[in-house]
Amino acid sequence: MAAVTSFGKTTVLTAIFLIWTSTLAVVEACPTQCACADTTVNCTNLQLFSLPANIPADTTVLDLSYNNISSLLPDAFSTLLSLTTVDLQHNNISAVNETAFYRANVFTLSSLHTIDLSYNVLTSVPAVLQDGSLPGLLNLNLQHNRITSISANAFFAVINNGLLSLDLSNNMIEEVHLEAFRGTAPVINGTLDLSFNKIKTFPVLSTLNSVITVNLEGNQITEVPEHALPNYEAFPFSVSHVYLQNNSIRLVHNNSFHPDTKVLYLHNNELRDFPGFELWRLTQLENLTLNDNPWGCCNDLLEFVLYVQNNTHRLAFVNDTGFADVECMDPLDLRGTDILSMNTSHLAEDDFCPVATAVAFRCDLLMTVVCLILAILKITEK
Ligand SMILES: *[C@@H]1O[C@H](CO)[C@@H](O)[C@H](O)[C@H]1NC(C)=O
Ligand SMILES: *[C@@H]1O[C@H](CO)[C@@H](O)[C@H](O)[C@H]1NC(C)=O
Ligand SMILES: *[C@@H]1O[C@H](CO)[C@@H](O)[C@H](O)[C@H]1NC(C)=O
Ligand SMILES: *[C@@H]1O[C@H](CO)[C@@H](O)[C@H](O)[C@H]1NC(C)=O
Ligand SMILES: *[C@@H]1O[C@H](CO)[C@@H](O)[C@H](O)[C@H]1NC(C)=O
Ligand SMILES: *[C@@H]1O[C@H](CO)[C@@H](O)[C@H](O)[C@H]1NC(C)=O
Ligand SMILES: *[C@@H]1O[C@H](CO)[C@@H](O)[C@H](O)[C@H]1NC(C)=O
Ligand SMILES: *[C@@H]1O[C@H](CO)[C@@H](O)[C@H](O)[C@H]1NC(C)=O
Ligand SMILES: *[C@@H]1O[C@H](CO)[C@@H](O)[C@H](O)[C@H]1NC(C)=O
Ligand SMILES: *[C@@H]1O[C@H](CO)[C@@H](O)[C@H](O)[C@H]1NC(C)=O
Ligand SMILES: *[C@@H]1O[C@H](CO)[C@@H](O)[C@H](O)[C@H]1NC(C)=O
Repeated sequence: MAAVTSFGKTTVLTAIFLIWTSTLAVVEACPTQCACADTTVNCTNLQLFSLPANIPADTTVLDLSYNNISSLLPDAFSTLLSLTTVDLQHNNISAVNETAFYRANVFTLSSLHTIDLSYNVLTSVPAVLQDGSLPGLLNLNLQHNRITSISANAFFAVINNGLLSLDLSNNMIEEVHLEAFRGTAPVINGTLDLSFNKIKTFPVLSTLNSVITVNLEGNQITEVPEHALPNYEAFPFSVSHVYLQNNSIRLVHNNSFHPDTKVLYLHNNELRDFPGFELWRLTQLENLTLNDNPWGCCNDLLEFVLYVQNNTHRLAFVNDTGFADVECMDPLDLRGTDILSMNTSHLAEDDFCPVATAVAFRCDLLMTVVCLILAILKITEK
């Protein structure tokens, strides 16, 4: 009788122990060294060289920042169906397998809204964004990598959902393919940041239906083409902030900007001339910066000068290089004259101001080369 009771007790205790440990396993499964709380798994700063094993299937936030992870292997995250945020900033990632975040027709990480891959060593935009299925992605951070070019359809799989933020700043981007920002209905309902790259040609953004803020600060752009910004006038609330400071812009065409532009930064460029008519169109403009440009104060500039003088309430000054004024560079006798307060009848004959077009510059260069060759031919003839 006693033996039976004892046997029963042991069985019950064993059963309870088994249930307890299995519950423990489910509730407290956490990769070694990581800190887990609720469904957040925090493995930051652990000198990991690869993803930890045993990441719980119900993980929502996965922090893998500040490690030494060098590649994201096939299916790295594709079974973590509840993921909302993956933080991989400050690693050593150079390769992302195209199935790292999804497996075609099997899983969809539809809750995943934020991927941070900033401060890694990627040389191109991961292919997972072209072919993968990340229908809920809102924030993609690729800043401070080593990306040199953006290929056609680079964001095809993620740009149709209304991304809020696409950050490609501080890379080494020289080439942006004409169809880089294509999609079925591509929208960036927030910020496209391409600042501090090496872009020379204004990227084609007209493939986007809408984008609110475009940041191209600190590139090498020389010209702002006609209809530079998305679906001109078709989307009334798009493109309201445009940052173009610290480029090499010499030429801005008519109809370049969206009429609802609120902020337009053009300081620290190489503008000598400007289509004044273009500014009068921008009736919503609140902040416009024009300082640190070599303005050519000739008759050509009259419309612009009138605009500036009549819209001082819209002018903003950002002091990057020490000259906070909108000043004349040419002609010589007007150098340093403040355009805001100058007498417009003092504007010089057009001949006294260098031509502003990038095309003319290239032609001048070509002409110089041609002249040199002709001169050399002439000399050798004798
Ligand atoms: C992870 O832990 C670090 C340091 O304790 C903390 O700064 C960071 O915010 C945590 N990450 C998340 C997603 O909670
Ligand atoms: C990455 O690894 C290198 C070499 O082992 C080490 O010096 C460095 O501290 C590691 N960095 C991090 C963030 O773990
Ligand atoms: C980064 O990864 C590469 C291999 O992809 C490796 O050679 C290099 O040592 C790693 N750097 C650090 C700091 O761990
Ligand atoms: C990604 O992984 C798959 C499966 O292992 C492999 O076939 C493919 O070549 C990998 N892709 C890259 C770019 O390494
Ligand atoms: C853009 O964002 C606003 C809120 O900021 C939202 O009302 C609107 O639906 C969004 N549009 C798209 C296409 O996502
Ligand atoms: C302009 O951008 C270049 C990089 O393109 C950077 O080195 C420089 O510091 C920037 N200048 C200012 C005044 O921001
Ligand atoms: C820009 O528009 C103005 C006003 O319509 C016009 O006078 C000027 O010729 C245009 N400039 C160019 C380069 O099309
Ligand atoms: C314009 O600049 C002022 C002063 O810096 C700032 O308060 C305001 O918010 C800016 N307007 C917009 C639309 O960003
Ligand atoms: C600018 O303002 C002045 C008066 O301050 C006025 O005479 C002139 O017609 C205005 N120009 C335009 C184009 O509105
Ligand atoms: C602009 O900044 C430079 C240094 O960055 C400073 O020396 C200069 O006084 C500033 N100018 C104005 C008008 O604020
Ligand atoms: C502008 O300059 C002209 C010619 O020098 C002069 O007649 C006129 O009085 C000046 N206007 C103002 C407002 O100073």
